[in-house]
Amino acid sequence: MSSKIAFVTGGNRGIGFQTALDLHNAGVAVVIGSRDPKQGEQALHELRQAGATAEMLPFDVTDASHHKAAFDYFNSRHGRLDILVNNAGIAAGGFPPVGAEHTACEAPSDVLRKVFETNFFAQVALTQTLLPLLKKSPAARIVNLSSILGSLKLHAEPGSPIYDAKSFAYDASKTALNAFTIHLAYELRNSNIKVNSAHPGWVKTDMGGEQAPMELADGSKTSVALATLPDDGPTGGFFHMGKPLPW
Ligand SMILES: NC(=O)c1ccc[n+]([C@@H]2O[C@H](COP(=O)([O-])OP(=O)(O)OC[C@H]3O[C@@H](n4cnc5c(N)ncnc54)[C@H](OP(=O)(O)O)[C@@H]3O)[C@@H](O)[C@H]2O)c1
Repeated sequence: MSSKIAFVTGGNRGIGFQTALDLHNAGVAVVIGSRDPKQGEQALHELRQAGATAEMLPFDVTDASHHKAAFDYFNSRHGRLDILVNNAGIAAGGFPPVGAEHTACEAPSDVLRKVFETNFFAQVALTQTLLPLLKKSPAARIVNLSSILGSLKLHAEPGSPIYDAKSFAYDASKTALNAFTIHLAYELRNSNIKVNSAHPGWVKTDMGGEQAPMELADGSKTSVALATLPDDGPTGGFFHMGKPLPW
């Protein structure tokens, strides 16, 4: 395998798959996590056909035993991990958000808990499990796939591009993930690890839908840029295509 090793969760489709492909093009060896091993095998086949040095782990981010399995995999094969892209995520329902499950007035607890479990608690737990391996990298990068919909400032600002695009469970889960980015980056500020939140853009994927203005080929650019930051790059930030976003 080439020198840098990356783990991309939810790498079987959408932005995660494209991120894996582009990391390969940047000279990184990629391991994709896929909840469905069959879909993972298909994605792995496509990555390898594109020339990638790639592997696939059956991986459900909400399953703590899979976190341990990922740790054991990277520890035994590489003794370290250079790049963690916390990409796997779910929405609370369709987009644009329509219906009671998207509202703060009526969002059911089970929807809130499910979305937070995947988009926040699982991301924190996985990162904590893999942190000892990231600390062994000479220059580790953690990319948390957030969303502009996690921006409190823009949600509170009448006239902002997202003011009328509110999906409470999803938005709050990404705000919480942003808090993780800030806290973790602060705690690791004297280490070789950089931690940033990415807003990929509104991208044509199963989640983003057909009406999204951004093509998949561009939807991975922010993740890849943050995953391959130089040593003088930022940490503890929230970015879209190289530009900072308000928290
Ligand atoms: N698309 C957009 O416009 C947009 C905008 C802002 C932020 N984002 C964020 O970008 C990330 C990727 O989005 P996307 O548009 O590529 O979404 P997508 O097409 O719906 O793909 C989501 C990926 O996450 C995986 N996933 C979901 N739950 C999982 C779990 N419990 N364990 C493991 N994998 C799981 C899915 O696996 P399965 O195939 O098994 O379901 C799939 O690989 C998400 O975090 C999303 O919130 C997307």
